[in-house]
Amino acid sequence: MIYLSGLVGFLLVVTAEAGVGNSSQLPFCFETTQCLLFDLICKTKNYEVRHYSSVKWVSTDEESYFMELASSKAFKRLYNYITGDNKNKENIEMTAPVIVKIPDKMFWEKGVFTTSFLLPAEYQTNPPIPTDDKVYFQDTPDMYVYVQTYRGWILTFSDKSVANSLSSALNSVHAAYQKDSHYAAGYNSPMTVFNRHNEVWFVAEDVPRCF
Ligand SMILES: *[C@@H]1O[C@H](CO)[C@@H](O)[C@H](O)[C@H]1NC(C)=O
Repeated sequence: MIYLSGLVGFLLVVTAEAGVGNSSQLPFCFETTQCLLFDLICKTKNYEVRHYSSVKWVSTDEESYFMELASSKAFKRLYNYITGDNKNKENIEMTAPVIVKIPDKMFWEKGVFTTSFLLPAEYQTNPPIPTDDKVYFQDTPDMYVYVQTYRGWILTFSDKSVANSLSSALNSVHAAYQKDSHYAAGYNSPMTVFNRHNEVWFVAEDVPRCF
């Protein structure tokens, strides 16, 4: 009843392209040939609701006070994996986005940050075994996420300010979402200066709210 309008929106706009696909379908994903595609469920003035299919990532964890420190160490480790540090010495192409799972914590607390590269379509099943035992695979579930987008670089302060803005928008419509962490999603190489595109994702815990 209270969810009905959200549900109707959801039924109207679902298409069937979520998964790892051709980057030409996603205007802000222009640096890699494959990107993570999604179904856009709805867009309010404060956020987008997206549906993602279950996909496989190569991931690594770093405990730290700072996201910047954790993600740069993690990025190197994952980059080594895709450039040959695997049992078959295979080169695996870079995809987008790179996601960092950021724990909700106070700045004086340490937290575990999980950085993940999306495996290309041809490696979604049977990716080569990593040689570094800190590198592992995980599948994100089929999920709905609330998204806000921003320009520039993913830094603790920019991520936090967008995450705060998104969570207040979600709280004001009584949306149910996972509050112990969120994702930072980046679509650009660190060298890229123009048209950088970053996102904050909160994972929905219920039928997503579209108002
Ligand atoms: C991706 O789409 C573009 C434009 O439709 C096409 O030219 C290209 O060949 C596609 N790439 C792959 C890997 O399918």
